[in-house]
Amino acid sequence: MPAGHVVQPPVGPRHVAIIMDGNGRWAQARGRPRLFGHHAGARRVREVVEACPDLGIKYLTIFAFSTENWKRTQAEVAGLMSLFRRYITRETRALAERGVRVRFIGDRVRLDAKLVALMDQLERATAENEGVQLTIALNYGSRDEVARATKRLAQDVAEGRLRPEDVDEETLPRYLDTRVLPDPDLVIRTSGEARISNFLLWQSAYAEYEFIDTLWPDFTAAELTRLCKSFGARDRRFGAVPA
Ligand code: FPP
Repeated sequence: MPAGHVVQPPVGPRHVAIIMDGNGRWAQARGRPRLFGHHAGARRVREVVEACPDLGIKYLTIFAFSTENWKRTQAEVAGLMSLFRRYITRETRALAERGVRVRFIGDRVRLDAKLVALMDQLERATAENEGVQLTIALNYGSRDEVARATKRLAQDVAEGRLRPEDVDEETLPRYLDTRVLPDPDLVIRTSGEARISNFLLWQSAYAEYEFIDTLWPDFTAAELTRLCKSFGARDRRFGAVPA
């Protein structure tokens, strides 16, 4: 080791993003309907949010419903929408009391008005909180987000608020749904699939990825702790060569 080199303690991820996959298989393995798995998955969200402060995770972003998930059966989609309404109604007080700030990303246009009202209400009820910053991606798809952002950017150009020559890689993120969030440091996908599935594509350019076999309803705080520790041991160079 070169003289004067100081060994830094491992630093955990500040922003963790999770693709919560495997609810359906978890339920099927128990001979139960897929929605049973989604309900079990929703209960896991609480445990994971509660684990964040001790792990130094300030930002947690979870993929609840993608722009592609509308292709599921009408019964499953309706069941998921009803689960989101119930989750928000039931969890608002506990989240607010724990100092969690909740934001939603994704396109709200296709969501039903009652759900959107609950989402707005939860955002408002937690807007002053400075604890864990929980972002729930609901009717979210990264390409859709980039398309919507580009539309707004183009409007600003057309109306003279932005000059094309001033557009650089700092510009687009200011139009994304995630504009107030730092980029994820660690993206976790459960259930053994090694895909990103249109989740935070721009934002995760330099994220570390963990694809783990655990099905989401079996994911625990202990597993999150293990993943955070192994993240701390990685050498992130962001394309540079170490000095
Ligand atoms: C993927 O499992 C999971 C989803 C499409 C829904 C994620 C939703 C939850 C975990 C519910 C709770 C979330 C909140 C915010 C209350 P899958 O159905 O694709 O599983 P499979 O790949 O085994 O079929």
